[in-house]
Amino acid sequence: MLSPKLGVNIDHVATVRNARGENYPSPLKAALLAQKSGADSITIHLREDRRHIKERDLYEIKNKLKIPLNLEMAPTSNMLKITLKYKPDYACIVPEKRKEITTEGGLNLKKNTNLIKRIVNKLKQKGIRTSLFIEPNIKDIEIAKKIKTDCIEIHTGKFCNLYINKKKINKELKKIKRAINFANKIGLKVHVGHGITFASAKRLSKINGIKEFNIGHFLIGESIFIGIRDCIKKFKSILKK
Ligand code: PXP
Repeated sequence: MLSPKLGVNIDHVATVRNARGENYPSPLKAALLAQKSGADSITIHLREDRRHIKERDLYEIKNKLKIPLNLEMAPTSNMLKITLKYKPDYACIVPEKRKEITTEGGLNLKKNTNLIKRIVNKLKQKGIRTSLFIEPNIKDIEIAKKIKTDCIEIHTGKFCNLYINKKKINKELKKIKRAINFANKIGLKVHVGHGITFASAKRLSKINGIKEFNIGHFLIGESIFIGIRDCIKKFKSILKK
């Protein structure tokens, strides 16, 4: 069985940079170091308020990176325009609220089926692999299949939060497992992401059928202590099947 891939989200290198308005630490440097350290892809989220990654980062990283670039994008016409301009290898459509600290919850596919379908079509026409960030529920997975996305990314935030706070995880874990099994059965590739730490990655990696883990905040935070290289190596060894 193939080990899941590791997507490294470097948004928070830009958060640190922007805190002082300097041009360091460089997200490009982090992306290239992550690539050298064994990351399978790099993720950046160009938020509408540009609170961390800027369009310039997207331009630089897209030009220099050799491994696939995954761009997280809100389902808006402006973000679609930008994504089609820079043509990242992958695009993950995520909901976005201006006041949230980080992405809260998955897409409301029921309400936005036509809009997301149109965006997925346009991205696929340009050869961009599409993913939809959704909650672990069967209804949304059925809609995702109808929309013809290549992949879904299951929001693991709730599970990771329960896990880290030593609360009961069984119900949420069951939901995630059920969602992954169902998605695989109907031919959707499954990624997971949000709030993942070494401990929760270990727990989630026991579930079969996950193709990719997308990890950011904890990985960048932990890198302060052990460096990006060792942090990626540790995550890769946790995910190894
Ligand atoms: N996947 C998606 C779709 C996200 O929006 C995020 C946060 O940007 C992540 C994964 C990574 O989450 P975290 O930074 O909590 O590891």
